[in-house]
Amino acid sequence: MSETKVNPIVDMRHVSVDFPVKGALPFIRKGCIQAVSDVSLTIHRGETFGIVGESGCGKSTLANAMIGMVKPTAGEVVFDGKNLYELSRDDFKATRRDMQMIFQDPFSSLNPRFNVYQIISEPMFIRGQDSEATMKARVIELLELVGLSKDDLYRYPSDFSGGQRQRLGIARAIILNPTFLVCDEPVSALDVSVHAQILNLLTDIQKKLKLTYVFISHNLAVVKSICDRMIVMYLGKIMEAGNVKTIFDNPLHPYTHALLSAVLDTDQTKQREQVILKGDIPSPIDPPKGCRFYQRCPKAMEGCKTIPAPEITVEEDHVVACHYVNGFPESVEKGEGYDTPLKQQADE
Ligand SMILES: Nc1ncnc2c1ncn2[C@@H]1O[C@H](COP(=O)(O)OP(=O)(O)OP(=O)(O)O)[C@@H](O)[C@H]1O
Ligand SMILES: [Mg+2]
Repeated sequence: MSETKVNPIVDMRHVSVDFPVKGALPFIRKGCIQAVSDVSLTIHRGETFGIVGESGCGKSTLANAMIGMVKPTAGEVVFDGKNLYELSRDDFKATRRDMQMIFQDPFSSLNPRFNVYQIISEPMFIRGQDSEATMKARVIELLELVGLSKDDLYRYPSDFSGGQRQRLGIARAIILNPTFLVCDEPVSALDVSVHAQILNLLTDIQKKLKLTYVFISHNLAVVKSICDRMIVMYLGKIMEAGNVKTIFDNPLHPYTHALLSAVLDTDQTKQREQVILKGDIPSPIDPPKGCRFYQRCPKAMEGCKTIPAPEITVEEDHVVACHYVNGFPESVEKGEGYDTPLKQQADE
């Protein structure tokens, strides 16, 4: 996303994250997984920013790079005006407290040998600035905020249901008063019956504590209902980005079309053409040179194989990276037949 706004809370510029692929012999690299490739985006204060895309497209890696958990191979991450990866150790630690994460799996993310008090107070305990009494009072306050009670203080994670465990994870994430919270598929491991409760709790907490959220989800209906702006990712790259309402009303990228066509819309006036994607997401070790989606794209042309699709702003807060939508750039060598539809070639 190329658009900027005064004083965004997160500003990522041309961020790439590669993971080395090791061979059978130690110290010999066989290549690298391009988990995130040249992603730029801004997140505004107080908004809920959605990240969607198929499994393995780099959503969690991007979020981890955003909060200092994975160092980008290239590019810059600016959080609250500070270049995250250029901070001193102490400044990084202090800034990192401002950013927290809620994990997908509340079963494995809570230490089963710790009781509720120990689990929730751990970040305060590690910071080492507060008395036992202060920590206990704060944990009780948070338990009440997330819909549990002080009677739960000395119980263990195994005594709780999935939804209750996620409430504990939320309490732990907000104990140090962060301003920025990444929710990485916070309800996908839970029973459908508790999805709405946890989502409502997250929205209430956001309002009360004036938090900025990044919300990663496979569920586009949820993204539509709770996010303000969003990006659609495919194989480490942004395909479409912008205002959620704009994208849902006027999706332009064929990949976004395919994702949205799988969502049941309660509005019967918005019947979408069903687009069924064939094949699997290609390997991120050797992604296509041109548009990364071309092999599965119903609109792909010959040139899409080799010419990368630049992100173009098509209307206010709406960016699309697609040759079919934007046309091929004039500035590149295109080669003969570059604009022949691949689908037509396959049919001939
Ligand atoms: N620590 C790591 N080491 C090596 N490869 C990794 C690592 N973390 C992620 N990857 C790879 O990077 C790519 C992106 O992974 P990531 O977990 O970010 O995807 P995702 O979009 O969050 O998927 P999901 O929806 O399944 O959670 C995948 O190919 C994954 O195998
Ligand atoms: Mg993930």
